[in-house]
Amino acid sequence: MKRTGIRAFFSIVLVFNLFLVRGQEAYGDGCFGLYPQIQNIGGRQTTSLDGSWKMFVDQYETGYYDYRRNPMPDGSTFFADRSFHSDRTVLVEYDFDTAGELEVPGDWNTQKPQLYLYEGTIWYRQKFDVTPKPGRRTFLYFGAANYEAVVGVNGHAVAKHLGGYTPFNIEVTDRIHEGSNAVIVKVDNKRMFEGVPTVNSDWWNYGGITRSVLLVDMPMTFVREYNIQLSKDRKRICGWVQLDGEQLSQKITLNIDELRIHKTVSTDSNGRAEFEFAAKPTLWSPANPKLYDVTVAAETDTVSDRIGFRTIETQGTKILLNGESIFCKGISIHEEMPYAPSGRAYSEEHARTLLGWAKELGCNFVRLAHYPHNEAMVRTAEEMGLMVWDEIPVYWTIQWDNPTTYMNAEHQLTDMIIRDRNRANVVIWSVSNETPRGPARLEFLRKLIAKARELDDTRLVSSAMEKSNIDATTLTVDDELMQYTDIISFNQYVGWYDGNSDKCDRVRWTFPVDKPVFITELGGGAKYGLHGDSNERFTEEYQDYLYKKNIGMLDRIDALAGVTPWILKDFRSPRRFLPGIQDDFNRKGLLSENGERKMAFFTYRNWHRAGLD
Ligand code: GCU
Repeated sequence: MKRTGIRAFFSIVLVFNLFLVRGQEAYGDGCFGLYPQIQNIGGRQTTSLDGSWKMFVDQYETGYYDYRRNPMPDGSTFFADRSFHSDRTVLVEYDFDTAGELEVPGDWNTQKPQLYLYEGTIWYRQKFDVTPKPGRRTFLYFGAANYEAVVGVNGHAVAKHLGGYTPFNIEVTDRIHEGSNAVIVKVDNKRMFEGVPTVNSDWWNYGGITRSVLLVDMPMTFVREYNIQLSKDRKRICGWVQLDGEQLSQKITLNIDELRIHKTVSTDSNGRAEFEFAAKPTLWSPANPKLYDVTVAAETDTVSDRIGFRTIETQGTKILLNGESIFCKGISIHEEMPYAPSGRAYSEEHARTLLGWAKELGCNFVRLAHYPHNEAMVRTAEEMGLMVWDEIPVYWTIQWDNPTTYMNAEHQLTDMIIRDRNRANVVIWSVSNETPRGPARLEFLRKLIAKARELDDTRLVSSAMEKSNIDATTLTVDDELMQYTDIISFNQYVGWYDGNSDKCDRVRWTFPVDKPVFITELGGGAKYGLHGDSNERFTEEYQDYLYKKNIGMLDRIDALAGVTPWILKDFRSPRRFLPGIQDDFNRKGLLSENGERKMAFFTYRNWHRAGLD
């Protein structure tokens, strides 16, 4: 066979071989080799692979494609980790042993100046010793990697994941051996038209293994997933447990000692058991973020979690938490470190600082924009009594007609819901932000909303839509998407993109349906420390005056049930060029990128929605 014929043959073998990987889940979005998500990874037996990883930049993806841009056979890719130094008779033009280093977790843009603007492929390698135990299974877990990650173990590519903000795990039981092993990851953060998000976004495209990597040691049959919720009438605890492995018929005991609950159920032949029993737990709320120690004990595995119980629903224009009307005084947050170097946030410490500022503002709610934040952020918010808006990055001009793009979005939505479904503080799933109206977009989002409700019918589902003008000062939201959402949630920028701040006094809002109104973005830019007249853009006075005028406008919206102004702190964006003012930062934060509080911070802090607190 000619050279290209052999290559084509090997490419087919490579792809087919990958589909043989145990537990292979094909999502129809180009991912392969992934295992269904193991929930509550913090409650498992894990070994961290975080720390310094070897790395080198591969702009032309020489380690993956041949000179004709065909995928190379496994043994020729960089996953083979061949070493020129050990055998100088072979042609090798790369070397991990003497390569540079990057810290994992962490974006590469803020770790090395030469990578600040880099968009492309970087290869990572980590070595680890392990002693495989008989009767145990081993998984490799990634909290996230942006944007596409191809993972190799001991010389072979075993999985591919798309999406920069959701966890993924790979079974490596049959791939690892006694002694030294190596995991090699090809991470590519190039923006793609067919991606989710697509090529245009107003946040920095931080690339890399941006969250923790863990080895997970599991029994042959384990508790992979569970759902433990309060019934909508708040009288019962109900849910289900899903086992994974060979021994699927087991007795499962759900223990909540503080409530003197010890309920035993039996799983069916698929490893699933459902339960429902009377209970009167103390309800989770921002004022009392009560969490219970819960254990799910199967015969072969036990997993513990901290779970809160509450209900969330709407009634007319009200949002009801535990049956009581609540006003969601919130703030939007990007997943960016609270201080220099302002890279991708990933730790509990980052979360506590960011969420501490939200609490200082008097918030009971945070909008985690525009993608699922790291799990520490959600769990820390739950402990601190902050409700959460959880969103997938279906942002702006997505390829609505591309079925692979839809499957990518649905995969990210599914993994967000699996990861966070037991977090009492997550009250809204959001399927998109500021997407242009049209039939293909409506169908795409309708399906995502239906999928969210299929996976979890206990929470509100919505999207950050856009306002429309009835006339110069009569504004509304008439997006046909509202027929599928539980609330009228939308972004509006009166005073910044829409007239000046005084326009707020002349605006009248009207809404075509009786649902809770939730303003998911408002605001304007200010450079911390820049002072001047309140009509001079980017002064603190301008931003403060804009907030004062917007607040006056909000107080005239009777159906207003929540607001999450844009945004807690200044964040990096490739769209913000003004030298000496923006310098690659979007300046709509109430705090600077160094945690300095601007004048508007105090104005928003001091605002208490009259009568709905
Ligand atoms: C939009 C968008 C944000 C963006 C903001 C801005 O509403 O949702 O992601 O950062 O406007 O322009 O600052």
